[in-house]
Amino acid sequence: RHSFPTRRSSDLPDTRMRRNRRTAALRAMVAETELGVHRLILPLFAVEGSGVELPILSMPGCFRQSIDRLVEQARQAVDLGIPAVLLFGIPDRKDETGSAGYAPDGLIPRAVAALKAALPHLMVWTDVCLCEYTRHGHCGVLRNGDVDNDATLPLLARAACSYAAAGADMVAPSDMMDGRIGAIREALDEEGFLHTGIVSYAAKYASAFYGPFREAADSAPAQGDRRGYQMDPANSDEALREVELDLEEGADLVMVKPALSYLDIVSRVKWEFEVPVVAYSVSGEYAMLKAASRQGWIDGDRVMMEMLLSMRRAGADAIITYSALDAARLLQNGWQR
Ligand code: PBG
Repeated sequence: RHSFPTRRSSDLPDTRMRRNRRTAALRAMVAETELGVHRLILPLFAVEGSGVELPILSMPGCFRQSIDRLVEQARQAVDLGIPAVLLFGIPDRKDETGSAGYAPDGLIPRAVAALKAALPHLMVWTDVCLCEYTRHGHCGVLRNGDVDNDATLPLLARAACSYAAAGADMVAPSDMMDGRIGAIREALDEEGFLHTGIVSYAAKYASAFYGPFREAADSAPAQGDRRGYQMDPANSDEALREVELDLEEGADLVMVKPALSYLDIVSRVKWEFEVPVVAYSVSGEYAMLKAASRQGWIDGDRVMMEMLLSMRRAGADAIITYSALDAARLLQNGWQR
């Protein structure tokens, strides 16, 4: 496959790769990777109240919104052709077990119902985790200062069922407890939610790139960190084991998170398993992009599109990104690389 006949007639190059790069039309014709709006998922942050829209300082263009405003934001996404949103809830009151996260009439079930009523064709995905809802900020319940894996599973399953009952199309567990995909699948099936999918945060790393999100969601652990349950950035074989287990337990889509510093993981997962892979370009990636672009140090639009394209090239089928609206606008206006 790699042995092309060579003709050595002079000192000039025999093969000229530049010929296929000469015009925009030719470059477009031979491009190996496409970026389309149908690949993008927009994360949104819900808070209680009405008419509330609180800017997130480290994430320009992103807000914590009450449900009425969030629906309007989602409508913009739909108008631009974005197929899905991923919801996070920031409750008024937090407690030890994160009960606001699984209450059937909680913030997220109400947001899902409002979105589905207003925008029936929009796919609604919901993050499933306790960290936004627990006072201590960990992703599960604590016992003797440690996150108790098995005691957390039923609570995650309850949250998933509450969101499914409200009409969520996909639930996305981001807690990194062992066995959660199986526990959630079983609970969903028992309650008759056979069509509700699971997007597993399968390879989720203990990353400093989540900083701005934790400010937005007020979910930084009060004590300790998440290294006891999220993955070590040094590892990539381990990511394959995580993905394999989640697929065995019933995950429909698997996610790699963060994206930009983990494109090798996206690639390995894609080629190893040949299943749909979602890359989550996280808050820190967005904050860096916006900060440098606001300083005028980079061309924000071009860097954004290059980031997204690199995730597609690595093997991501879909991308969760805070840039979804910006990117969709560019694509709608006939963006040319
Ligand atoms: C909840 C969760 C986090 C993110 C998504 N779901 C934070 C964390 O694990 O600390 C991060 C998203 C982002 O940074 O954009 N567990």
